[in-house]
Amino acid sequence: MKNFKRTLVTSALPYANGPVHIGHLAGVYVPADIYVRYLRLKGEEVLFVGGSDEHGVPITIKAKKEGVTPQDIVDRYHGIIKKSFEDFGISYDIYSRTTSQTHKETASEFFKTLYEKGEFIEKSSEQYYDEQAHQFLADRYITGTCPHCKNPNAYGDQCEACGTSLSPLDLIEPKSAITGSKPVLRETKHWYLPLDAHEAWLRQWILEEHPEWKSNVYGQCKSWLDMGLQPRAVSRDLDWGIPVPVEGAEGKVLYVWFDAPIGYISNTKELLPETWETWWKDSDTRMLHFIGKDNIVFHCIVFPAMLKAEGSYILPDNVPANEFLNLEGDKISTSRNWAVWLHEYLEEFPGKQDVLRYVLTANAPETKDNDFTWKDFQTRNNSELVAIFGNFVNRALVLTQKYFEGKVPPCGELTDYDRETLKEFADVKKQVEHYLDQFKFREAQKEAMNLARIGNKYLADSEPWKLAKTDMARTGTILHIALQIAANLAIAFEPFLPFSAERLRKMLQMPHVEWERLGAIDLLQAGTTLGEVELLFDKIEDAAIEAQIEKLLATKRANELDNYSPNGVKENVAFDDFAKMDIRVGTVLACSKVPKADKLLEFKLDDGMGGRTILSGIAQSYPNPEELVGKQVLFIANFEPRKLRGSMSEGMILSAENADGKLVLVEPSKTVVNGVSVG
Ligand code: MF3
Ligand code: ZN
Repeated sequence: MKNFKRTLVTSALPYANGPVHIGHLAGVYVPADIYVRYLRLKGEEVLFVGGSDEHGVPITIKAKKEGVTPQDIVDRYHGIIKKSFEDFGISYDIYSRTTSQTHKETASEFFKTLYEKGEFIEKSSEQYYDEQAHQFLADRYITGTCPHCKNPNAYGDQCEACGTSLSPLDLIEPKSAITGSKPVLRETKHWYLPLDAHEAWLRQWILEEHPEWKSNVYGQCKSWLDMGLQPRAVSRDLDWGIPVPVEGAEGKVLYVWFDAPIGYISNTKELLPETWETWWKDSDTRMLHFIGKDNIVFHCIVFPAMLKAEGSYILPDNVPANEFLNLEGDKISTSRNWAVWLHEYLEEFPGKQDVLRYVLTANAPETKDNDFTWKDFQTRNNSELVAIFGNFVNRALVLTQKYFEGKVPPCGELTDYDRETLKEFADVKKQVEHYLDQFKFREAQKEAMNLARIGNKYLADSEPWKLAKTDMARTGTILHIALQIAANLAIAFEPFLPFSAERLRKMLQMPHVEWERLGAIDLLQAGTTLGEVELLFDKIEDAAIEAQIEKLLATKRANELDNYSPNGVKENVAFDDFAKMDIRVGTVLACSKVPKADKLLEFKLDDGMGGRTILSGIAQSYPNPEELVGKQVLFIANFEPRKLRGSMSEGMILSAENADGKLVLVEPSKTVVNGVSVG
């Protein structure tokens, strides 16, 4: 490998149309942060750049839906994302945004340079136009019937029911999502980056010069290149974005995937207005892009083509993209709220940043998609962080307090077993580095954890608490070695678990850590007084895990109720279909929790017909069910009776879901006779 002088690390700019979730973290932000912390610890010159991606159609759609401006949306989510990254310890040198003034200027200039160099081609084509709204329709603004599965709510770019990617022209009976009218085809002009003209050097650069790229990345690039590259439009007809800075481009903005990666440049410039070019134009700079797999083509092909076309920029040296993380076996989805959101995690598990960092790294989707489950989260915390790492450190420190007044005891003569133990971790630095240098974060963390296992085993085998009765010198030697191992843990885990490493350092009174010293056995001087002992990790109880699982189940139920059309009204029904449902009013006579079923309430209703029992899955929303006695509710009287948890349920009680995910019973606005029909 070439000897670089400095490293520029970028991490994908998350869209500011929602908060960050564990999938983003595992795929991009945690590995990038580990890598950056590792380089800093080695004393290397490194810059870590991030920011929010604030343009693009989804943001305008969300704004329209909420009746606010796109700026309101991005202000909200940029705030949430930035704060949650900070609280989680993602150690950016700058986290800015693509609506910044610097970015608007930088992206605009970049386009102009390429335009003036003749690097674009101009092309007119026919695109759908909404004559009532007087605007061209982005793919996402057109809905219609999917030609493949006949889903009536497919989008112009994709059918979410069958997953096929579509073009708006594929849709049967296209409709404008803005006015509902039938769009017409109209001619519009756009600028295209002729990727086909860049194909030859891209092939050479990626396929010949970078065989060391991760196989998932290399493979995806190869298949794109083998299919042959096409010109790509870099402008759009839209009123949210950076205006195309040439004459005759009114109403057109830069395509979000053109401006977003330039955000890396703008944000570097914002931080270092004088010296940013060193990071972007000096061939001694090594540039790395941390991204998820859906971003590979943009970072390995499109952005490099833009940089090359401009002419004065370096290209990335590596693009360590990850695959996807699933959640409890299902694909993470922002629109279906199937996710663990970082800002919620931070609130619900205060002080436990490192637990999530640990679990996400241990399960990182490095070569294939992987699954996050709350059970695994609990197990890794309780039986690895607590039982191995925390337990070892705690024993070493507590015993030192007990027998040596909290001072590091001197090291006496070593036994063969001591020497064996020391030898076992002499290589830890080499091992961890070996994996980190190849972006194998799970393996690297495993090696670091191995150090704690060695320490734990050493204490268990040598039992200093027994020797303390007879041989203080030997006890001291054992604890001396154990404390040196603990000190090594403080260094090794600094990139992975920065909060815990810092607390450990404080306990061990290690003001400075140097990566170089990892593996050494003289990190702590005999006689040093140690700091106060506290627990590094706490056990996570079942209740906390069950609460998270219940939260996900509630999401599932809500999605099922939505019948998978979260954005729209269900298909029309005829009156006859409606009349089939026998909806009636009843009064709650008794209501209680069903034992051993944490979601179910049992209702006894006066239904005007002699009474009935209905079970309803709303227990989480009504912690005090007895309060419901006396209320009138609506129920479906002819809903097929079914057995739930061993009891018969005769009907279904109607409820509505509130914005906070809680279910609310529907009641008549005035008292009516029990048993009357609703219709
Ligand atoms: N916002 C994009 C996403 O979440 C990533 C943009 S990365 C950048 O998929 F290079 F464009 F900034
Ligand atoms: Zn379909």
